Amino acid sequence: MQDFKYYAPTEVIFGREAESQLSTMIKKYGGSKVLIHYGGQSAERSGLLKQVRKSLTAAKIAYVELGGVVPNPRLSLVRKGIELCKAENVDFLLAVGGGSVIDSVKAIGYGLDYEGDVWDLFIGKGEAKTCRALGVVLTIPAAGSEMSEGCVITKEAEQEPVTPTDMKRSYDVDLCRPKFAIMNPERTISLPPYQTACGITDIMMHTMERYFSHDDDMLITDAVAEAILRTVRQCGPKLLIEPFDYQLRAQIMWAGSIAHNGLTGCGTTGDWATHNIEHELSALYNVAHGAGLAAVWPHWAEYVLNENPTRFAQFAVNVMGVASTFRSAKSTAQEGINAMRQFYHSIGMPTSIPELIGRKATENEMQLMADKCTIGKTSTIGNLKKLMYNDVLTIYQMANE
Ligand code: NZQ
Ligand code: ZN
Repeated sequence: MQDFKYYAPTEVIFGREAESQLSTMIKKYGGSKVLIHYGGQSAERSGLLKQVRKSLTAAKIAYVELGGVVPNPRLSLVRKGIELCKAENVDFLLAVGGGSVIDSVKAIGYGLDYEGDVWDLFIGKGEAKTCRALGVVLTIPAAGSEMSEGCVITKEAEQEPVTPTDMKRSYDVDLCRPKFAIMNPERTISLPPYQTACGITDIMMHTMERYFSHDDDMLITDAVAEAILRTVRQCGPKLLIEPFDYQLRAQIMWAGSIAHNGLTGCGTTGDWATHNIEHELSALYNVAHGAGLAAVWPHWAEYVLNENPTRFAQFAVNVMGVASTFRSAKSTAQEGINAMRQFYHSIGMPTSIPELIGRKATENEMQLMADKCTIGKTSTIGNLKKLMYNDVLTIYQMANE
């Protein structure tokens, strides 16, 4: 087991009446003027925003609002949020939504306390010293941003040749971890099945990214990871058939947080190549992150399988329920990857680029994505196998069949 630091400071309020504690939480963490940040229309339609406003008003907490966060949240709205918060002297940020809204609020939080251009942080040109306090009312279990140190923002394309396509980058430091997360599984009932399935995929992937490593002696972390993966694999498909089942919603919602709050990364180096490869897909085609992951993972897995066939075989047996026999680790491993493919299809997820975007990617597009992914062919991604430009391009090509 590798040495590790585990830091998960977010206070979680989980359950049917969780929202009733919102104002108490904001006051506890020093909020007196709040930005309510949200996405499109889902939180308005469900009545959640109305409830949030009512709760703040009743507690005499002043607030301003900024909606309009889109999936794969944009830098331009982050900048608007920073200006608004400065003008209104906002001292607490509240995200009402999913990963995109939370990440947008995190970036606003950084920008408020950072002297330069907030985008500097995402391209390694600057370092944040602080981040404005923030809290979350979660509406979709998926990205795990409600407890994570991650913040993923997309900068819109500028006129060629500056940046010919959108650029999606993450800034991952502890400063932005939310003070609290309010999680009511009932709030996720309104999710369309596709978004539920994207969430299931992302939750599993956050665990798998940490699971596939060369660090084999991590029994406790493996046990936690496999329990999360088995639970999501069992409950996810049932949830798509029984969308009103509170217990299933609750399992998936909590799985989403513990899959990405660092717990399954204790003692392992993690990989993260699939995420990096996917981020270029969502930057170029604006697809849902979870669906992009499903389109990439089986191909990444087949490409790197030989690095540690025993671990892939362990995944096949302990997570995917492949029978343990006297076959080679490699053939058991391959069966596990095939089972994962079938699982993705069973929940309506794509397992290739054509299934994801409705056509094949062009050679130019794949070269562009591989180039951006490896920062102009200057760096590698992943750890199980360090992938260079040509490796990444090959994985895009495999996924494009
Ligand atoms: O905008 P609204 O109307 O709210 O609709 C959203 C959006 O269209 C909808 N939705 C959310 N809750 C709903 C609902 N619809 C009905 N009922 C509800 N209760 O779902 C759609 C997707 O929302 P989004 O927030 O984009 O989803 P998700 O949570 O999957 O977040 C994806 C973003 O998170 C990033 C991804 O790259 C992507 O940009 N990630 C962030 C991470 C982090 N910060 O740690 C890690 C992840 O690996 C990921 O990269
Ligand atoms: Zn993810």
